[in-house]
Amino acid sequence: MDIEFVRSRFIKHFDGKTGNIYFSPGRINLIGEHTDYNGGFVFPGAVDKGIMAEVRPNGTDTVMCYSIDLKDRVEFKVADPEGPRATWARFIYGMVQEFKGLGVDVKGFNIAFAGDVPLGAGMSSSAAMESCFGCALNDLFADNKISKWDIALAGQATEHKYIGVNCGIMDQFASVFGQKGKLMRLDCRSREFEYFPFNPQGYKLVLVNSKVKHELAGSPYNDRRKSCENVVVALSKHFTNKKFETLRDANWEELEVIKGNVSAEDYQRAHFVLGEKDRVLAVCDALIAGDYETVGKKMYETHQGLSKEYEVSCEELDFLNEVAKDNGVTGSRIMGGGFGGCTINLVKDEIYDKFITDAMQRFEAKYGHAPEVYPVIISDGSHKVC
Ligand code: GLA
Repeated sequence: MDIEFVRSRFIKHFDGKTGNIYFSPGRINLIGEHTDYNGGFVFPGAVDKGIMAEVRPNGTDTVMCYSIDLKDRVEFKVADPEGPRATWARFIYGMVQEFKGLGVDVKGFNIAFAGDVPLGAGMSSSAAMESCFGCALNDLFADNKISKWDIALAGQATEHKYIGVNCGIMDQFASVFGQKGKLMRLDCRSREFEYFPFNPQGYKLVLVNSKVKHELAGSPYNDRRKSCENVVVALSKHFTNKKFETLRDANWEELEVIKGNVSAEDYQRAHFVLGEKDRVLAVCDALIAGDYETVGKKMYETHQGLSKEYEVSCEELDFLNEVAKDNGVTGSRIMGGGFGGCTINLVKDEIYDKFITDAMQRFEAKYGHAPEVYPVIISDGSHKVC
């Protein structure tokens, strides 16, 4: 992201003064999809693309926001009970409200921001916004006393309360806690996590963006989560001696026992989640052993599950997965919530160029537009730039 670009817009659209600049990244996820809100494990890392904001307290009780990318301006009072209508500004409003809830005396400020993380690509542009605004509010109004976890949780609460997406914690966690060159294995139930240096010799990670836009708000994302909750209710009713908080607490035998008590669709969704839980742990073992072939095999299994059982794929993503297979790519799968966006691919160096060329050409020939390709650069999480 270009600091001078953001600064020039901040100066132009407000009173000519400069503020502080903050940056928060989007994320990749190696494996562990739709496991976060099921109390399972995820394996994300922050990327080099994200959201950059310049922010300066303005001595009033009004927040004046400018979206550089959308060329749109919105204002709201810090104490406004409803908040703005524009979705992009609701991310700022939500973080302000959550910080107030944490006891921070947030005052008016001017903010201009821009991003280079593609929207709706499954790379968590929303979480990048939330954590960037959280990083700024923490620095400007809370003497950096708010913990990283509280910033991540404020981001998740913003999604739930002000955007309408009942997301898990993976994206905000990755954006806040990311470290250069490291993936993170997070246990979403206990919130314990570990950094894993990730530098697979002889392989590259690359994202291929179908450019099919996913919009999680009001989408089947929330329905998927509901299906998982329905199965937890059925498990709790049947196994009265055991406590089921999420699908994390369920095993394969228990799922089979209550199969007839839930809809076929809900069963299928839960079946995916249990499989994904096992796959993440298998990938951890494989990574420790340096066995990237197994990592790749599990990625293909995840794609299959997300496509056929969890039903969050689309034609274009299935096609990209097939192209990866045809080219002998080690692992490939849908990344993020699904319904569009990117595939993440683990590719051997020697076939990398051939795969990218083939994916670009075949995709464009079939769908009339070329996909975008982003080599993965695992980078640092939220921080103040200057
Ligand atoms: C979206 C959500 C995350 C997670 C993924 C799927 O990115 O924001 O919480 O559920 O989908 O793994």
